[in-house]
Amino acid sequence: MTTATSTRIFSGIQPSGIVHLGNDLGAIQNYVKLQDEYEAIYCIVDYHALTSTHDPNLLRERTRDMAASLLALGLDPERCTLFVQSHRPEHTELAWLLATVTPVSWLERTPTYKEKRETQPDDVNHGLLTYPVLQAADIVMYKATVVPVGRDQAAHLELSREIVRAFNHRYGNTFPEPKAVFTEAPTVLGTDGVRKMSKSVGNTIDVLAPPQVIREEVVSMVTDTQRIKRTDPGRPEVCNVCQLHRFFGEDYLEIQDGERTARTGCVDTKRLLADRIVAHYAPARERYLELMAKPALVDEILAAGAARLAPIAAATMAEVREKMGLR
Ligand code: TYM
Repeated sequence: MTTATSTRIFSGIQPSGIVHLGNDLGAIQNYVKLQDEYEAIYCIVDYHALTSTHDPNLLRERTRDMAASLLALGLDPERCTLFVQSHRPEHTELAWLLATVTPVSWLERTPTYKEKRETQPDDVNHGLLTYPVLQAADIVMYKATVVPVGRDQAAHLELSREIVRAFNHRYGNTFPEPKAVFTEAPTVLGTDGVRKMSKSVGNTIDVLAPPQVIREEVVSMVTDTQRIKRTDPGRPEVCNVCQLHRFFGEDYLEIQDGERTARTGCVDTKRLLADRIVAHYAPARERYLELMAKPALVDEILAAGAARLAPIAAATMAEVREKMGLR
C-alpha cells in the first residue's frame, strides 16, 4: 500500500464460485493494474452474495475460492488489501445509516433489482432491494474515489454518488463522490453472443477451469449468425469470437480479415481463441491450484486484510455516528 494521502480505490466482487472472462477483462485486470497506481482495497462481498446464495457451506467455500482466484490472477497482498466484507461488519451498520437517506424509489428503479425480480421471482428478499446501499457503504467506508468495475455496475455507482450527495446534504460534507473506471472491455458478451457474460445466464468462459472445460465453452460460442456456409464472408465486427481475439494476440486484425474474406472458418477461429485463452490463463490456473492446496495461507491473507482496514472503518464510523447524532 502507498501512503494514506494517495487516492484510494475500492472494488468488490461476489463469491460466485467461478471467475469468468467478463470478470477478468472487465474488472480484475484493472484491479491488478491499479494496485500499483493507487492505495487499493478489494473486497469479496459475501453479505451481497447472501441475497442469492443460501447454502452456508457453499458460501464459505466460494469465498475462499474467490480469494485464491484473485490472488492467482495477480492481486498481491503486499500491494493491495484483500478482505472479506463480513470480516468488517461495520459495512452493515453503515449500510443501515445510508439507507435512511436513500428514497425507496431510487432502489426500485435499479436495473439489477428489476432483473432479479425476474430471475429469482420466488426469492425477492429485502437484501436485493437494499443491495446498492450496501455497495455504497462498501465504497464510502474507505472514502474511495475511484472504483474499477464493468459497465453493468455503472448504475450502482451512479446510485452511490446520489446517496453520497444526499448524506452530505443532510449531515455536512463527509464523503467524496466515487467514480467508476472501466477497462477496454467494459461489457464482455457471453458464449451466446447476445447477452452479457454472467454466471446466472450460464453463458460463461471460466478462466481458471481445466483446459478441457474452457475449450468446450469457447467451441460452443455463437459466431456471426448470418455466416451459414464455410465459404460465406464473415462479419468480424458482430462476431463475439473475433472481438475477443483482440485481447489475446497482436494479430487480431489479420484474424478478422481471415473471417471477412472466408479464408478461415468460424471453427478455426474458435479453436485458435480456445488455445490462446488456455495458454494465457495456464500460469494463473497453476497458482490457483497451489493456493487452494494451502487454505490456511489464503485465510491468513484475508484476516490480515480485514485487520489492516480496522482503523479506517473505525474512524469513518465514529465520524458518521457523531454527525448523525448517535451516542
Ligand atoms: P460482480 O461480482 O457481479 O462482478 C464483479 C466485477 O466483474 C464485472 N463484470 C463484467 N465486466 C464486463 N463484462 C461482463 N460480462 C461482466 N460481468 C461482470 C462487474 O462489473 C464487476 O466489476 N455489485 C458488485 C459487487 C460489489 C461492488 C461493491 C463493486 C459490491 N460492493 C463496491 C464495486 C464497489 C457485483 O455484484 O459484481
